[in-house]
Amino acid sequence: MSAISESLGKVGNPCVMVIFGASGDLAKRKLIPALYNLARERLLSTEFAIVGFSRSKMSHEEFREKISRDIKEYAMGSVDPDLWNWFVQRLYYSPGDVQDTNAYQQLQTLLLQVDKEHGTRGNYLYYLATSPELFSPIIQHIGAAGLAREENGCWRRVIIEKPFGRDLESARILNQEIRKVLNESQIYRIDHYLGKETVQNIMVFRFANGIFEPIWNRRYIDHVQITVAEDIGVGQRGDYYDNAGALRDMVPNHMFQLLTLTAMEPPISFEANAVRDEQVKILHAIQSITPEGVLRFTVRGQYGEGMIKGQRVPAYRSEPSVPPDSNTETFMAMKLYIDNWRWANVPFYLRTGKRLPCRVTEIAIQFKSAPFVLFRKTTVEHLKPNLLVLHIQPNEGISLNFSAKIPGPLVRMGTVDMEFKYDDYFGRTPSTGHERLLYDCMLGDATLFQRADMVEASWNVVSTIQDVWKALPHRKYPNYAAGTWGPQEADEMIARDGREWRRCGK
Ligand code: BG6
Repeated sequence: MSAISESLGKVGNPCVMVIFGASGDLAKRKLIPALYNLARERLLSTEFAIVGFSRSKMSHEEFREKISRDIKEYAMGSVDPDLWNWFVQRLYYSPGDVQDTNAYQQLQTLLLQVDKEHGTRGNYLYYLATSPELFSPIIQHIGAAGLAREENGCWRRVIIEKPFGRDLESARILNQEIRKVLNESQIYRIDHYLGKETVQNIMVFRFANGIFEPIWNRRYIDHVQITVAEDIGVGQRGDYYDNAGALRDMVPNHMFQLLTLTAMEPPISFEANAVRDEQVKILHAIQSITPEGVLRFTVRGQYGEGMIKGQRVPAYRSEPSVPPDSNTETFMAMKLYIDNWRWANVPFYLRTGKRLPCRVTEIAIQFKSAPFVLFRKTTVEHLKPNLLVLHIQPNEGISLNFSAKIPGPLVRMGTVDMEFKYDDYFGRTPSTGHERLLYDCMLGDATLFQRADMVEASWNVVSTIQDVWKALPHRKYPNYAAGTWGPQEADEMIARDGREWRRCGK
């Protein structure tokens, strides 16, 4: 089924959604508000229910009260009392330890009861909103309890949060373990970037418009810059982040999604595997990076204290739960090539980091300059290349800039912008970004989820970099001040190619 066209407007299939880690942050901040938004849009089946599963001891009623309190804080807009009442009647709770077999028997009993009460037809959607080391044990338990078996026309699907492994080896093992219980068609590896409208729009922009595709290649494009910059630090996530670092946290998932959607060939259809086949081809085509390449084409950094928007902020090493001698990177930049006919010799520069001067995610496509010939005898000194920017967030939109003559007797040029802003055309629909992904999963559409081979191909690229970094002596961290654009080496890396990074607001 197509993620883009056919599924819109249909109501999700009847099902019970079981949230593992129901008392955690993700459930209250994203999942419940997203489900409520789906209910508001009338995209949830009336035959729908939610079962929260976690260690905290709570009755169904206490769980309903907790969720009702949380939604007041985390809903994206006002909460309609009648609709909330409908929603709350569909909430259940099953306390238990995810490692305890008995807890799954209780869950099974509850699911049968909920099935009967709500007509959910034995369809179960499990959402693993837990820490990653529990993914495999939970799936093994679901399997052992018979809760993953699809029989008599019912379906059982599992959404798995990131991080999916911490390197190629562990991702492979995790894939093998979960495939002992589930078919690939039951596995939905989530990447919340694919829930963003602007990310989904990359495909529409490229393939629903005739004018861009002919120039979307090495003949016309000089280079591509993909930036995911954040001004926030690691906040309360020091424990997780210090074990991950910027490379693992952002590159094999969010940044490679942006890369593959930008670089892939047109799929033969919008069917899930057709799209993912094209994405994975790009991941396989990323030029292998040698250890010397890692030294020349990747840069890592860690922030020291500095100023963000006029406020003094602490160094990474002084953040909660971060060791004072941490060598984890909070910034990474890299240059890569995609070895295929479309992209041969076109550099893709990727960069991401925390505590950069602003929050911006964008894909900037810089075209080759026009030949200067025509303007030699004028006051124009050089021609500016055209730049197409897909603004993913904030200020969602697309801009294209080009040169125009500044009015007057002399030939002088200025750069002007053609700008499309989502808000101007479509307004803003409150969303957590998870709505579309949950809804697609209910309909069995995996287009916007990662397939096993995609995850492994991504880790394959990233693991080489990790290995070389690990083998090298520690960097002298911190090497960039909070509120700046990362270490100087990142500027030097791109400057060696005669190019420069874009800055916020440019
Ligand atoms: C998460 C990372 O996956 O994505 C975080 O773990 C990061 O470190 C976040 O802050 C960024 O997401 P968004 O939607 O705010 O760009």
